[in-house]
Amino acid sequence: MQPDEKIMARLKPGCICQGIKLIRLLDALESGAKTFEEVAAITGIGQGDCGGKRCRAKVEQLLNRKKRPEDEQVF
Ligand code: FES
Repeated sequence: MQPDEKIMARLKPGCICQGIKLIRLLDALESGAKTFEEVAAITGIGQGDCGGKRCRAKVEQLLNRKKRPEDEQVF
């Protein structure tokens, strides 16, 4: 991750319902989480009002980007 991406990730939401920033999701993925459930267990996302619909989509986008970095744009 580029330094400017890291700065943006500190500002952007990862789980809007619970006020968890994108950087926390990225850190969970970097530490080895490979599914939404694993990211949720590490970060606590997915238990807000939307039931995880929005942050699940974000995590899946991040996982896809990890698999095919040239195809996905998260930032
Ligand atoms: S955005 Fe994460 S629970 Fe709603």
